[in-house]
Parts: sequence; structure tokens; C-alpha cells
Amino acid sequence: MLAELGIKFTFPKPVGLIEYLISMVADKDALVLDSFAGSGTTGHAVLQLNKKDGGNRRFILAQLPFETDEQKAEGTSLARGLTAKRVSEVIKGYSTAKGELFEGYPSGFRFCQLDTSLFDEDGKIRDGVTFTELARHVFFTETGEPLLEKELKRSAFLGSVRGVGVYLLFNGILGDKSAAGGNVLTRKTLAELPPFDGHKVIYCAGCLLGQERLHTERITVRQTPYEIKVT
Ligand SMILES: C[S@@+](CC[C@H](N)C(=O)[O-])C[C@H]1O[C@@H](n2cnc3c(N)ncnc32)[C@H](O)[C@@H]1O
Repeated sequence: MLAELGIKFTFPKPVGLIEYLISMVADKDALVLDSFAGSGTTGHAVLQLNKKDGGNRRFILAQLPFETDEQKAEGTSLARGLTAKRVSEVIKGYSTAKGELFEGYPSGFRFCQLDTSLFDEDGKIRDGVTFTELARHVFFTETGEPLLEKELKRSAFLGSVRGVGVYLLFNGILGDKSAAGGNVLTRKTLAELPPFDGHKVIYCAGCLLGQERLHTERITVRQTPYEIKVT
């Protein structure tokens, strides 16, 4: 079946077996984790089982994008996206070379790629972390939504979700690179921020505005790095 999908992978598990195991141990709303996902059999099995019994199980598949010389030569590399390719194909549905049709599963998934850690052991932001890297993290931990590539602008205003605007003052995004300058919320930096008509959450290294002003401006301040959620 994997060959029909154009996926080369040695020793995949049979979908039916994983499906059977999940049906034995997990309820219909379970979140199934496979941290050694390989060709994505577990995702396939979850989709198949949901279709059969009307379940609403979800899955998390983690796969290390490694590639040994041997795998490279064999073409069995798991470089970026092979697991996602399998899941994507089975969701869409596919046909075999013999003309057999496999209907898809009405579903979807999100592909995420882990990057290097942004924080050191003490929770401080590592040297060299860029504005964009921290912006992505802050936006996701604040809103639960990813900051998509196409939405990334070099601006202190990262975007809004459910009526709340999220801002980040970091690495002198407003043009002032001094340690206590552009990363601190002051009257001056506030005036320079792109406007947002609604509640604002502003991540910054410090804040010199009083509580009253923050209240009037509908601002919640979160101090970096301490109030950035690490997970
Ligand atoms: C035996 S395969 C899994 C096969 C899978 N059940 C299937 O049906 O295709 C184990 C996989 O775990 C991956 N792996 C090894 N260490 C890992 C790690 N630390 N994090 C994520 N994946 C890892 C390997 O690259 C390999 O693809």
C-alpha cells in the first residue's frame, strides 16, 4: 500500500493491527500519541477506526527527520514530511496502479516542525534568537494559533485572535536597539505601536506606564522573558 502512495519505508506496521490495538485500549475521543511515527501508520489507523465506529479520536505523530547514508542510498529517507505525506494521501483518498479506489477520510491535520530551543536552562531567551522566532512562540502560546508565514510582518503588532491584539517588543523592533529602550513600554513606544481597536496583550522587557493608563488603553503587559509561557 505504501508503494502505491509513492512512499518507501522499511518495516511499517500493518494498519489493521494498530487499529485493533487502539480499539482495545482507547475511547472514541482519545488523543493517540505515536512519538516514533515512521510512515504514519498510527495516524492512518486512527482515521480508519474513526470512520468505522464514528469516533472522534485525534492523533499526534512525532518523527525525527534523520537521514543516514544507507537510507539516502535506499531512498528510504524520512526527511521532512514523509509521515505527513502518508496521512495527507489517505485523507484525500487514492487509487492504486490496478485502478482500485480507496476513499479518503474527511479529516485534517497540522504539520509542525520543531526548531532549536528559544530558552536556556534558567528560562532566559538565548542569545541570537531572532524577533521572528520569538514572535512565533509568543503568538502561539498566547493565542493557541500559529503565526503563519504569510502573516509574518516585521512589526511589533503580531496579529489578533478573537478580538485580542498581540504585540511583542523585542530586539529593538521599533528601531531602538538599546537595552532599556525600544523593548520597554513607555509613552513613546506606545505611541509608535500600530493601532489595534480592542484589548491588547503586549510582551515587553519592562513597562513605565501606570495602571490607570494601561486600563484606559486596554493593555495587559506580559514581561519578557518571565511571563512567556515556555510550553
Ligand atoms: C520502527 S519505526 C516506526 C514504524 C511505524 N510504526 C510505521 O508503521 O511506519 C521507528 C521510527 O522512529 C523514529 N525515531 C527514532 N528516534 C526518534 C525520536 N527521538 N523522535 C522521533 N522519532 C524518532 C525513527 O526515525 C523511525 O522512523
